Amino acid sequence: MSEVRSDVLVVFGATGDLAHKMIFPALYALVKSGHLNEPVIGVAFDAWTLDQLIARARDAVATQIPGYDEATFLKLASLLKYVSGDYRSPDTFEKLRVALNGAKNPLFYLAIPPSLFETVAQALQTAKISDGARVMVEKPFGHDYESAHHLNAALHAVFDEDAIFRIDHYLGKESIQNILYTRFGNAILEPIWNRDRVSSVQITMAENFGIKGRGKFYDEVGCIRDVIQNHLIQVLLLLGMEPPASGASDDLADEKIQVLKSIRPLTKDNVLRGQFEGYLDEPGVAPGSTMETFAVVRLFIDAWRWKDVPFYIRAGKNLPVRATEVVVRFKQPPVFVFDEIKLEESNYVRFRLSPEVVAAIGARRKAAGETMVGEPIELAAVDNNEGDMEPYERLIGDAMNGSRQLFTRQDAAELAWKIVDPIIGDLVPPLLYKPGTWGPVQSDTDFCPPGGWINPKP
Ligand code: BG6
Repeated sequence: MSEVRSDVLVVFGATGDLAHKMIFPALYALVKSGHLNEPVIGVAFDAWTLDQLIARARDAVATQIPGYDEATFLKLASLLKYVSGDYRSPDTFEKLRVALNGAKNPLFYLAIPPSLFETVAQALQTAKISDGARVMVEKPFGHDYESAHHLNAALHAVFDEDAIFRIDHYLGKESIQNILYTRFGNAILEPIWNRDRVSSVQITMAENFGIKGRGKFYDEVGCIRDVIQNHLIQVLLLLGMEPPASGASDDLADEKIQVLKSIRPLTKDNVLRGQFEGYLDEPGVAPGSTMETFAVVRLFIDAWRWKDVPFYIRAGKNLPVRATEVVVRFKQPPVFVFDEIKLEESNYVRFRLSPEVVAAIGARRKAAGETMVGEPIELAAVDNNEGDMEPYERLIGDAMNGSRQLFTRQDAAELAWKIVDPIIGDLVPPLLYKPGTWGPVQSDTDFCPPGGWINPKP
């Protein structure tokens, strides 16, 4: 089954925001590159006609891809069909069965609220259209360990694990794959990539905007669940894992699991939460809400390679820049032969994950002049992302082909929750910060990596 290409793509939630922002532009790109020729059936509650869905798809493509090509769009439009109906009604799935027109290996993409995943999976089974099919599900995958476990059981009642594709769009990014390639495509890093040489690791995901009208969603989720439990822990796993036996998806997943099992669950001493001033005035946010819009967590991997090396993850809304970066900082030289070298100026490896893809090495050289004093320099390989595939294009294409490498396996989805579960909620009260700053001042003074943060530049 895993090598058979899906013969139809069914998008549940076809009239929603995600479809408009991400899915239609991705489908357009797949059609343009010749990677999508199968029928695409949109499903949603709205009583639209096919023409209305095509108009919505056109608007999505025109908004996201200025200068799009009309011939490509018309090809996409010719692949589209539409089924409207309530996900709780068997009639909807009967109409879908007819629209599938005997397809043997559909890919069902659930771009709908997670509370509906179970209902839809069961309805697909009842309508006898789940055999031979794959299912792709959007995040958030559960809201804690128990709910993720329950969801997995519900999906497994209908689909085998190798037919389930859990999306974490971060894994579809070029820059994330670059971490993996740089680590395991070069022999020079391996001897220094451990507790003997590394003093700390910091991962920052900064966003220079607020919650963009998503108050109701965000106020139930918060920063830790929104981006740390999934996207940023995945980045940590790629930095921390052992070399896999091969690039096959299960070999990669096995190594990630080893790291997940070795990470100490978080305690309140290893978390700082923040909330930007003005959050409570956002539409949809509950009065007096204590939800965090910023967080720093300090994680330890209790494994031979990483014992006692702190991994800091920092993320937040309304920070000074929009950028995601990783800095792996190395220890100071054991003896200062010339000038004193401060930890913050020591050697490091920096991966910029967005907006550009950068791999850089921070080093010191002699500053020109009479005295033997040094200055920091950086050697950087910058890629301006031209020609990169967008994550949704890559992920939908991979799921159609049954390639699971960039999707989260069941055990990984559950174990990541076990790490953050103990500190979800109000165990650590949030500290206020001013929009446009790097979070609460305490995250720079009391709770930061040894040598401080290296803030991503604009
Ligand atoms: C999403 C979060 O999963 O990731 C958003 O819900 C966040 O809050 C987004 O802004 C960031 O993704 P990207 O690809 O823009 O870095």
